[in-house]
Amino acid sequence: MLDELTAMGQASRQTGIRALFDADAARFDHFSASTDTLTLDYSKTALSKDDLAALLSYARQTSLEQRRNAMFAGARINATEGRAVLHVALRGSVEDAYAVAGDNVSDEVESVLVAMSAFAQGIRNVQIAPARGGRFTDIVNIGIGGSDLGPVMATLALSPYHDGPRAHFVSNVDSADIADTLAKLDPATTLFIIASKTFTTIETMTNAATARRFIADTLGEDAVGAHFCAVSTALDKVAAFGIGADRTFGFWDWVGGRYSIWSAIGLPLMIAIGPENFREFLAGARAMDQHFRHAPLEENLPVLLGLVGWWHRVAQDYAARAIIPYDQRLARFPAYLQQLDMESNGKHVGLDGRRTPTVTGPLVWGEPGTNGQHAFFQLLHQGTNVIPVEFLLGALSHEPDLQPHQDLLIANCLAQSAALMRGRTLEEARQQLLAAGRSLEEAERIAPHREFSGNRPSLTILYRKLDPATLGQLIALYEHRVFVEAQLYGINAFDQWGVELGKELATQLLPVVTGKENTRGRDSSTAGLVHQITRLKG
Ligand code: F6P
Repeated sequence: MLDELTAMGQASRQTGIRALFDADAARFDHFSASTDTLTLDYSKTALSKDDLAALLSYARQTSLEQRRNAMFAGARINATEGRAVLHVALRGSVEDAYAVAGDNVSDEVESVLVAMSAFAQGIRNVQIAPARGGRFTDIVNIGIGGSDLGPVMATLALSPYHDGPRAHFVSNVDSADIADTLAKLDPATTLFIIASKTFTTIETMTNAATARRFIADTLGEDAVGAHFCAVSTALDKVAAFGIGADRTFGFWDWVGGRYSIWSAIGLPLMIAIGPENFREFLAGARAMDQHFRHAPLEENLPVLLGLVGWWHRVAQDYAARAIIPYDQRLARFPAYLQQLDMESNGKHVGLDGRRTPTVTGPLVWGEPGTNGQHAFFQLLHQGTNVIPVEFLLGALSHEPDLQPHQDLLIANCLAQSAALMRGRTLEEARQQLLAAGRSLEEAERIAPHREFSGNRPSLTILYRKLDPATLGQLIALYEHRVFVEAQLYGINAFDQWGVELGKELATQLLPVVTGKENTRGRDSSTAGLVHQITRLKG
């Protein structure tokens, strides 16, 4: 079946997208799907009805529905770590009664949410105050990867709902990150959240120690307790750091780091937008979970998004995917998806322990439109690599007085996907130049540079307005899409062994960098660079 699908994918590349539109005036109706609030338009891809039918049957053949049901049932589908994968329980209701190995987890989830809400509300209404009085004006989340990217992305995305203290995020171990952040802050009114699933990540622990000194040196050691809280699954390690149990919010090993924004890792977001808006955010994700669980595959947005993604990557051999939100507040969404997608599906060993029969996850990158249009869109339209684009677009902005901006934004987004699909033929380019008064010789010479091949695929995800529930739906849509693609690749999306080797080597190299050990036994590049670094340090 894989060979057949690849042959179909290559044949579709030949047919092209423009021809499919010319042949079917109602192509949008046939190749789009909607929930109440989201529309996925996948008509501007080279997918025919036969291709789609073949993809759906391949998905069924891979037992996609059974594996999806196993995830929702709390089975230990993360086989290499022996863990369940139940981030959906974080946004479920108590009635959903999610369970791992027969033990209900929904009640525990609810009790952490209640505790987080009380804490967040306490910070917001000054019932919880700094050590020397006053109010917390600023919160700083210290975390990295999944303990940073979700809160950063969502806090920016929902800035119109932000009525709590200012939020800052420190992730990089580079001293520039924490130094530049602390320089703006008054220790007397700053609360630090130390967010780390394992509470061992070196970047986070190093930044946490610096933040601790910032408080202790300025306000005194006794102020530390009032200015710190923590989010972790390693409660003993948090206690050893000196953060009280009443300020520690737990989560569970069945929540992957990149799937943890719904857990207590979302605390900075909750403090920023308030517990009610945070519940709306969870409810949006739950609505997408229900859709993924119950909608027929033919109308199922995450399934369709996953099928098209797999089709582009495997059957049509496109190595990358661009995520272009026409929504400035989703500026960090591409970075968020980089971890979600690439840490999940950037693997070459299948669930059976053997090399996968196909290529797997694509390179994911992107920037908001319209800015990207003035930077890298040249390559998307006329470069030698074809990169499928995923546009995200809201019908409404949060600035009704500035509707002309939104209309321009929308027109630009629609124009880009139409241009990618339709292009401009050589003859059209020539005629345009002649109509503009250029000579025949000039028109012949310049037209090839103004030709656009078209037939470049894109998807558009349309929503009403970027509110908390919509953001929840969008993230859950992409989470389930990653799940679908992993199933088609035959890999486990929920481990991340590929990040370990670099961490181990960094630990071994630290004494070499600090001069406590010599470079003997290191490769010549590493040794040479260490020597140059030592020289430059002076
Ligand atoms: O880089 C690997 C990783 O384990 C990510 O999966 C995770 O989100 C990040 O590090 C941070 O981990 P922690 O929350 O345990 O500090």
